[in-house]
Amino acid sequence: MTRLEWTIEYSVGVPKIDQQHAYLFELANRLFQHMGMPDATQIIDDTIAELHRYVDTHFAYEEAILKKADYEHYEEHKQMHELMRTRLDLLTQQLKQGVLNRQDLVEFMESWLTEHIIMEDMRFIPAVAKLSEPPTGPL
Ligand SMILES: [Fe+2]
Repeated sequence: MTRLEWTIEYSVGVPKIDQQHAYLFELANRLFQHMGMPDATQIIDDTIAELHRYVDTHFAYEEAILKKADYEHYEEHKQMHELMRTRLDLLTQQLKQGVLNRQDLVEFMESWLTEHIIMEDMRFIPAVAKLSEPPTGPL
């Protein structure tokens, strides 16, 4: 079941960031697909672990580009990433303790992958477009 699909509307004009966002969509879909399924605990745990690892990679990469581009809302954007990271940590803890409201996780992932990208990441496009070459980094 694909709940969220990365489409060109989500493009921020930096191919590597687009690829990273698309992979985050894929991880979110993997979570949605297995939540509530019997015997899917291992897949869910693995996906959450991968999400944690990858979120760090992605935020670090995005922030490096924004810093290089001298983005005027850099600090604000970084703080939003930190908030999302804290929220993800909290939801993961709740999941491990068996007290997670699954709908909370779904809503968090959906709002992150749609609202944050559409409303916040899109705002850095003009600043980043001025960079002659975006920094290279891990996918
Ligand atoms: Fe962002």
